[in-house]
Amino acid sequence: MIEKDIKEVFFSKEELHSIVERLGKQISEDYKDKNLLLVSVLKGSVIFMADLMREITVPCEIDFMCVSSYGSGTKSTGNVKIIKDLDINLEGKDLLLVEDILDSGKTLSYICKMLKTRNPRSIRICTLLDKPERREVDLYANYAGTFVPDEFVVGYGLDYDEKYRNLPYIGVLKPEIYSNDEE
Ligand code: IMP
Ligand code: MG
Repeated sequence: MIEKDIKEVFFSKEELHSIVERLGKQISEDYKDKNLLLVSVLKGSVIFMADLMREITVPCEIDFMCVSSYGSGTKSTGNVKIIKDLDINLEGKDLLLVEDILDSGKTLSYICKMLKTRNPRSIRICTLLDKPERREVDLYANYAGTFVPDEFVVGYGLDYDEKYRNLPYIGVLKPEIYSNDEE
């Protein structure tokens, strides 16, 4: 069982549901007469994306992009590698980037710059979790589910070394789990 590795639950299944519901309502209001394209940044945002899109009541399209910036550790390297690009032409679309967590901001800042060159009508950011005190670049989320303290969290799509994504809640791991990870 993966539950045994969790030290503390930060956001329960129910709390996450109400956060996502609130974001969905707000986005539905704001994108009434727009050309909404939700872009999920894989893999961490996959569960958030799946739940969020079902709370959105205006027409929308979805697409996925996969980048890697972390390797297997817990700190951003700043080296963003595109593993899977978008399929949809962005011209005239109102892009909403759906992220699991905004940490240093390096990953999204890189993605935003790159996607802007493809002439979308607008680009905004929706992140489930925000760690503002960790920001290293000038970037903010237009929609943020909730703030988290400066701790490495897992679950609801977020991983540590590709594991724990399937936890239905968000929590922190016991310190001994990271003990082999040189920082
Ligand atoms: P940034 O470039 O530092 O903003 O990193 C953003 C990405 O790093 C996120 O999309 C996550 O995949 C990963 N990340 C940052 N903080 C955490 C965390 O606390 N838990 C799991 N993944 C994280
Ligand atoms: Mg990750």
